[in-house]
Amino acid sequence: MLLRGDMDALPMPEDVDLPFKSEVDGTMHACGHDAHVAMLAGAARLLSDRRADIAGRVVFMFQPGEEGFHGARYMLEEGLLTDPGTKPDAAFAIHQTPMIPSGYVAAKGGALMASADVLTIDVVARGGHASMPHQACDPIPVACEIVLAIQSMITRSIDIFDPAVVTVAKIRSGTTNNVIPESAQLVGTIRAVSARSRQKVHDNLRRVADGIAAAHGATATVTIDEGYPVTVNDGDWATRSLSIADATLGEGKGILMPSPVMGAEDFSYVLEEVPGAMVFLGTMPSDSTPQPNHSNRMVIDESAMAAGIALYSAVALDRSRSSQPA
Ligand code: NI
Repeated sequence: MLLRGDMDALPMPEDVDLPFKSEVDGTMHACGHDAHVAMLAGAARLLSDRRADIAGRVVFMFQPGEEGFHGARYMLEEGLLTDPGTKPDAAFAIHQTPMIPSGYVAAKGGALMASADVLTIDVVARGGHASMPHQACDPIPVACEIVLAIQSMITRSIDIFDPAVVTVAKIRSGTTNNVIPESAQLVGTIRAVSARSRQKVHDNLRRVADGIAAAHGATATVTIDEGYPVTVNDGDWATRSLSIADATLGEGKGILMPSPVMGAEDFSYVLEEVPGAMVFLGTMPSDSTPQPNHSNRMVIDESAMAAGIALYSAVALDRSRSSQPA
């Protein structure tokens, strides 16, 4: 059984007044990965004390580089899931969130989190004088048309029950009021909750951008940097995790989520290879307005970490019991 806790922080200021706030300027544990490390270390201590009760092995995956650096993928490439000494047959991870009441556990089978790819579209046309556009080929209206056409493409060609999101979050072009620039660049994110929708969005983005640029005599180069794949929970493992939460933390503490969230996770690489589940652990503080992960004011209810330690441990013990011959 593999238990995972990621450990990296984010490059941002921590604007809270706590004795344990970050001592490194411009670096903050705004996703609570420090809590993940503390919980996994707690579970390692607890399970080590009960080593005699455990049939088989528990692998504690302390993982760097979750925030976009593919840390899990590197650990897999280094043999985490294939080395005879560590090869697990199930995997489990917890991610804290202050947006769920403290001590509650939420999950679902199937897609839990989205894939996340970076989209860049470079429109190249012909520069000139802004007063005489007929002598140039203006890339700015072409880029604007592409932005709007992407939204039509999503709603008209992607199954609403297998959704995708494309957001163009950055447009860059031009230098002043009376010059038509030669190029324009669009940058955004692509999210999907199935490999099928993800691929379809990639194909359609290329076709739409190419076609619109060609219609105006410009060219568009679409670059898609593939990020994390969809995080897919095994259905049985999701159900089992929630019933273990009920049994360990109290009846009703396991909540079945109605839909995925469009954030992304590199635990997806582990769940592509090994059945298992990722769950969200509520850490909503009782004495302040909850701030979401990645907020510069994110704070967790630390008492929820005990629930996380108990849950990690209970999942491993349950797996150990169920893998023993009857
Ligand atoms: Ni995170």
